[in-house]
Amino acid sequence: MNTTRILLNPAFRIGPVDPRVFGGFLEHLGRAVYEGVYDPASRHADADGCRSDVLAAQRRLRMTAMRYPGGNFASGYHWRDGIGPRAGRPTVRDLAWQSIEPNAFGTDEFVSLCRKMDWTPMLTVNLGTGTPEEARDWVEYCNCPVGTREADRRAANGHPDPYAVKLWCLGNEMDGPWQLGHVPADQYAIRAQQAAKMMKDCDRSIETVACGSCTTGLSTYMEWDRQVLEHLGDMADYVSLHRYVGNPADDTPDYLAVTASVDRQIEDMDAVCRYVQARRKSARRVYLCFDEWNVWYRERGGDGRAKRAPHLIEEVYNLEDALVVAGFLNSFIRHADVLKIANLAQIVNAIAPLLTRGDELLVQSIFHPFEMVSRRRTGEALRLAIDGPSYEGRTNGAVPVVDASAILGEGVLHVFLTNRSERTAAPVSIEPAGLSIAALESAEILTGPGPKAANSFEQPDVVAARTYDEVAVRAGRARLKLPPLSMAALTLRLG
Ligand code: AHR
Repeated sequence: MNTTRILLNPAFRIGPVDPRVFGGFLEHLGRAVYEGVYDPASRHADADGCRSDVLAAQRRLRMTAMRYPGGNFASGYHWRDGIGPRAGRPTVRDLAWQSIEPNAFGTDEFVSLCRKMDWTPMLTVNLGTGTPEEARDWVEYCNCPVGTREADRRAANGHPDPYAVKLWCLGNEMDGPWQLGHVPADQYAIRAQQAAKMMKDCDRSIETVACGSCTTGLSTYMEWDRQVLEHLGDMADYVSLHRYVGNPADDTPDYLAVTASVDRQIEDMDAVCRYVQARRKSARRVYLCFDEWNVWYRERGGDGRAKRAPHLIEEVYNLEDALVVAGFLNSFIRHADVLKIANLAQIVNAIAPLLTRGDELLVQSIFHPFEMVSRRRTGEALRLAIDGPSYEGRTNGAVPVVDASAILGEGVLHVFLTNRSERTAAPVSIEPAGLSIAALESAEILTGPGPKAANSFEQPDVVAARTYDEVAVRAGRARLKLPPLSMAALTLRLG
């Protein structure tokens, strides 16, 4: 294969990479909360009943914004059910996942977990079956100083100091007919505007995320977003995007090209934001929040059959899925100027990089690209040109064989590369203009015996990242040869 040249220039900056792009999502869904992060019966349980092994693995991902409590669950959730002495909390029927919710884990437990993990809490209010006033009361419970009813309730529950929760999602996927309380765009916009106004009146420092189109597949795609953003005006700080991808046709080249459609989705949404901004003659920009993204197509069943912590949507991930996850991250870095928050859906057991089985824990393939990029996320994204071989995906169009993104840090250049070829190694030359690469500081590579290779409890290291030093630095440039179906993360010291 011909060499792919990665051409970059430090003057061509896209913008600082917002750390919140490396967020996660914890939903009351299947075994994500119970038997996932929270399991007082486990031998790994810490003093708060949280699984220390799960949290230790999570720390490696350095996640930032953590979205909670859903997802679809949020549209039937009443936050008051999850506070106060546990014995007094109701056990309820969760209609979103047809499960039984004991409410043993709620707002106070979530915020304390965020503190423990250094996560930024991001709460989704219920705009499906809840009221704008219930949403406003939740802001008071979390953020207001003691002296009024909801804040005093928090103090009575042992937390006199406000939680200062900054990020609030105005409902979840309200454009989806499956959503509890789904309504047309104009009606959602009214609900969301009413809620956001009261929430912001309660705490002027919060930021809100309006529900944008939750899939590119609905007939309301983009028109929903226009209507919602026009009506919400200054009440929306961000608009959400969701995307789950998969390989049901078992066409690996096309699947690996899906990154091009993620680029397009981000650009479509940014175009709507700019259109509405221009129509409103506003100086204020609405930014993008990709608050659900992942691979999800095998385990689609969402019926918990009235069980507590049922095994739901426990996707097992392979090498090609990990490369697609790397592609999402490349796309997010390439759009650092407009994309400010993103949340990998989800963090444990349900469509997650970690799986528990009893007291055992498995690190799945998709864990690795997230860890490799997340530890190199600080700096400014650079615009780059990829000059090399390309191919035509069946549904996703033409893409370069080598996908890439780059971040300029303090005296270092981070480069992320994916070789989408199934059979051929890809020679790569990283050629910065006006910068000189002095040495390789660190690098890891992720690959495996084939696209479907996956980790299991019996063989946990089939797809694993390993340290990589086969990078030649000469005359200010770096050269390497990416094995077929691989992803590399490099930190290059600048001279
Ligand atoms: O992440 C799983 C589900 O996917 C979420 O609950 C919902 O918002 C989306 O459809």
